[in-house]
Amino acid sequence: MQAPAFLSAHAGHVQDALVEILDARTSIVPERLLEAMRYSLLAGGKRIRPALLLECYAACGGKRPATVMPAALAIECIHTYSLMHDDLPCMDDDDMRRGNPTCHRQFDEATAVLAADALQALAFELISLSDTDADLRCRLLHTLALAAGCQGMVGGQILDMQADSSSESMDILSVERIHLHKTGALLRWSCEAGAMLAGADAAPLDACSRYGKAVGLLFQIADDILDVTASSADLGKSAGKDMAQNKATYVSVLGLQRARELADEMQELAVSACQPMSHRAEHLRALVHYIQERGK
Ligand code: IPE
Ligand code: IPE
Ligand code: MG
Ligand code: MG
Ligand code: MG
Repeated sequence: MQAPAFLSAHAGHVQDALVEILDARTSIVPERLLEAMRYSLLAGGKRIRPALLLECYAACGGKRPATVMPAALAIECIHTYSLMHDDLPCMDDDDMRRGNPTCHRQFDEATAVLAADALQALAFELISLSDTDADLRCRLLHTLALAAGCQGMVGGQILDMQADSSSESMDILSVERIHLHKTGALLRWSCEAGAMLAGADAAPLDACSRYGKAVGLLFQIADDILDVTASSADLGKSAGKDMAQNKATYVSVLGLQRARELADEMQELAVSACQPMSHRAEHLRALVHYIQERGK
């Protein structure tokens, strides 16, 4: 399915802003490090997380998208770093990402590890410098640290590494726990951060949080389905890896049919969470549709 026009527009703005941020560091960052950061960060990607942040901001009545951009860029930096580490030989050992050789294949492992580390730190730098109220900035930094770290994405990644889908103890709740952390935490943060930046009250903030949780699971279910149904050329990354590596996924635990049904359930949950922002949530509903259709 083709990306909706507003998603492509966000992706274009995100790309331009990331180029500017890296260009501004040309004379102060070691050349090879910056080259590897550029290589992975500017290689494309759907830019779903920045789009979720910007659209939750708009759905909660936010009116100054330029002030929100640092947080949107920050989450893309964290996400890209997580992919670079995810692809390393000691993790998923992948050769292809975003249609190109993975960073450690193009450069070398040490460079990929360090460029990813630098992107992680850059994310916090961007938010710390953003033009927002100091309390809000602190809250964004704190919640991003939780979402990205041991209680969030990193915690989920180690559960993913330890899980073995052929083990009898691997059930759907264990898979859900992995996915809510490794993928869900960053997606959910994107949605909550958009609401926080818009100064949302408890009801729309909670709505964005529930939306983000459902989208997070939907996103990883779709990724698990695509791993078995799509080609490497279409995905821009190697397909068929999950089964080869005995990964615990929705497909390995539930089968393709049930995984698709669960994706439908997550779609309904996400769409119904939009209720409190109903008149402004058209793009949020379109993003859910786009994510689900990709996984069909
Ligand atoms: C891939 O994320 C990794 C997962 C969390 C499933 P994306 O599918 O968002 O990857 P890009 O950013 O578009 O390359
Ligand atoms: C990746 O999950 C999650 C993170 C990078 C945190 P996967 O291992 O399924 O992602 P892909 O399929 O390699 O993109
Ligand atoms: Mg992985
Ligand atoms: Mg992987
Ligand atoms: Mg995957």
